[in-house]
This record gives sequence, structure tokens and C-alpha cells, in this order.
Amino acid sequence: MVKLGIIGGSGLYEVTGFRRLKEESISTPYGEPSGRYIVAGFEEAPGGEGPAGLQVVFLPRHGAKHSIPPHKVNYRANIWGMRAMGVERILGINAVGAVDPGLPPGSIVLPDQAMDFTQGARESTFYDGKDVVHIDFTDPYCPQMRPVLQAAAQAEGIAVSRSATYVCTNGPRLESRAEIEFFRRSGGHIVGMTGMPEAALARELQICYAAICVVTNFAAGVSSAEKLTTTEVVETMAKSTASVMALIKRALSLMPGQRNCPCKDALSGTRL
Ligand code: HPA
Repeated sequence: MVKLGIIGGSGLYEVTGFRRLKEESISTPYGEPSGRYIVAGFEEAPGGEGPAGLQVVFLPRHGAKHSIPPHKVNYRANIWGMRAMGVERILGINAVGAVDPGLPPGSIVLPDQAMDFTQGARESTFYDGKDVVHIDFTDPYCPQMRPVLQAAAQAEGIAVSRSATYVCTNGPRLESRAEIEFFRRSGGHIVGMTGMPEAALARELQICYAAICVVTNFAAGVSSAEKLTTTEVVETMAKSTASVMALIKRALSLMPGQRNCPCKDALSGTRL
């Protein structure tokens, strides 16, 4: 059975509704991950031990107490550690701002495309040694996981936006009005600071990756609000936690036991 990793974002520092079974510290060739990996099982299962495959490995991206800003997250160590934990599928949870005015705060979005504006500012590949590898990234998110998330949302009666382009900025500052307008004209729908290179790094290790994004605010200039605040981000995220966890739980029970997507063979034909 395929193990699911969950990387929590702002406002999501633990997996409510799951039972903690153990914690593990992992050292990687890329340095230290954001914290300990928490193995959790279904709360309602006897003894907390879910049926095989129904365990999750959780890691809060910003650290358990949110002490790591987006540009300092060790994305390579986090993803490497997930693989060391035996994870073959990762769900990234991200707080995002809405570039598209049709996505009010509280909206839950399952992105299908991504644009990376952090290139060059973050360590973004496992292949910067002697191996020259170019992974295919035409579709950044796993084509087997996304329909399962959509089905899970439908089964739970949770409204989600099924298609959106995630724009990743380096932060930690928020964007200017002009930057957001540029992203909007370029086809972006949501903006965040953590979705990349996480998704690409997972692909480089042949791990499936999909994202659940929670809109916590309208991005700069999209609404009439004078100033964007982090309080707004964390508060909106907290309100959406129950829905996100319900979505994850349902998705876990709907996720096929075997992978049949291209992610699992992402490295074939990629080496020069
Ligand atoms: N911009 C960038 N990242 C974010 C935002 C935003 O408006 N909201 C939450 N994460």
C-alpha cells in the first residue's frame, strides 16, 4: 500500500482527526527537514492503527511553531525525508492569496498548473551534481491524485475549484499590486510562497504530488482591503482546517492502492 505524506502549511501544524503513532527525526544529505515526521493513523480505528496504507506521514513545512519562513524552508530535505519515511504520494497544503477575484477567502482550490517565480532563489533540484536530469513537468500535479481529491470533495460536499494555476513567489514579503496584475494577465489564479520547488522536487524523486490550496485573502490590489495581514491568513486557514482534514481523510479512503501515473516513472528517459 502506498504511504501518503502530508506537508502542512501556514495554520496547519498538526493532523487533527488522526492519531499520532510515532515521530521520527531524519537527517538528509541536504540538511535538516522542517521538523520531525509524525506518523499518524485514523483516529476512529481501534488502537489508532488504520488498515494497511491508511497511515499518513505529516510534516509542518514551517516547523511545529511556524519559525521557518517560506524562503528558508529546506524543501529538498523535507522531500528527501518523506521518501526516507517510505512515502510515495505527497499532499501539499498551502495558504494562498487569490489573484482571481472569483476566489474569495475560504475557497479551496486544487491547482492543475504552476508557475515558479522563485527560480534561482531557492535550491530547486536534486540534480545539481554530475547527473544531468530534466524531468517532465508539463503537468506538475499527479494525474491520479487530482481526480481522487475531486471525488473526495464531492463525496464530502466540499466545494472546490478544480483547476487553477498556482504562482509561486519567493517572499517573504507580499506582492505589489503590479506584480499581482502581471500574474493575473499571465494566467495565474492563486499566489503563494511554498508550492515550488516542492512539487518539482517530489517529481524528481518519482513521488506523486498534489496540492490543496486554501485561499486566505485576496492578493494585493484584488480587493479594496488596505493592507494584507498574516493574522488574516492564519485565521482563515484555521476556519478551513476541518474541511481540509475531511477532504484528506476521504481522499485517503478513495486513493487506489497502486500507482498507475507517470510520476512513478518520472526519471525514465530524463538522463542525458
Ligand atoms: N501572496 C503570497 N503568498 C500568500 C498570500 C498572498 O497574498 N496569501 C497567503 N500566502
